[in-house]
Amino acid sequence: MSLARVHNFSISLDGFGTGAGQGPDAHFGHAGDRLHQWMFATQWWEAGGTAGVDDVFVQRHDPGIGAEIMGAGKFGHPGWHEDPDWKGAWGPNPPFHTPVFVLTHHTRPSIEMEGGTTFHFLDTSPAEALETARKAAGDQDVRIGGGPTVIREFLAARLIDHLHVVVVPVLLGRGVRLWDGLEGVEKDYKIEQTSSPSGVTHLSFTRA
Ligand SMILES: NC(=O)c1ccc[n+]([C@@H]2O[C@H](COP(=O)([O-])OP(=O)(O)OC[C@H]3O[C@@H](n4cnc5c(N)ncnc54)[C@H](OP(=O)(O)O)[C@@H]3O)[C@@H](O)[C@H]2O)c1
Repeated sequence: MSLARVHNFSISLDGFGTGAGQGPDAHFGHAGDRLHQWMFATQWWEAGGTAGVDDVFVQRHDPGIGAEIMGAGKFGHPGWHEDPDWKGAWGPNPPFHTPVFVLTHHTRPSIEMEGGTTFHFLDTSPAEALETARKAAGDQDVRIGGGPTVIREFLAARLIDHLHVVVVPVLLGRGVRLWDGLEGVEKDYKIEQTSSPSGVTHLSFTRA
């Protein structure tokens, strides 16, 4: 069976996967870009960037992925569903290039974008969403793309096979936490830790 994989999911030292106060011009709320500066420094993000350990991890985001599942909070800022023309935060050619299943209580017809990305909107359980995404992905894996609420739901339902979390040495103090309600979830996984000279720590959770 294809795997459900999380890649490059960045959290603060105090466990927040996004900040407070998300809005149209603040996708990560008061966190700004602090959770992803490690990624922006890599050659994966921009030519001339670093080619070290952060780049090795970040490159694993796309290979073997045939579909993504994301939450309504990643697809858009609070209230996006009131805008009938909202097509996500990535412009006409989003960086997914696969079917993307948006979990939301505000479903709408699918939206075909340039470059192979089609957004589909599902109001269903994580298990059923994963089954749908697996069919769309063929024999490839499904990426669970975030945000923290959706990854937490999939972890609670024991649906994640591989989880790559990047711990960033900032304290956000407020926002949306990844780990709440998941006591003991680490027992299901083999865990490896890789420290990067950039200051972040990569944690790889692989289902035992
Ligand atoms: N740290 C990272 O690496 C990373 C990665 C990706 C995104 N992010 C950030 O994370 C933030 C979004 O995360 P979030 O935790 O606020 O929200 P989220 O996980 O993206 O989405 C949660 C929302 O999705 C809908 N939903 C979830 N499960 C559902 C289900 N089973 N059925 C129907 N609807 C369901 C609900 O919204 P409705 O009820 O409104 O439909 C719920 O409030 C953004 O700031 C984004 O930029 C961070």
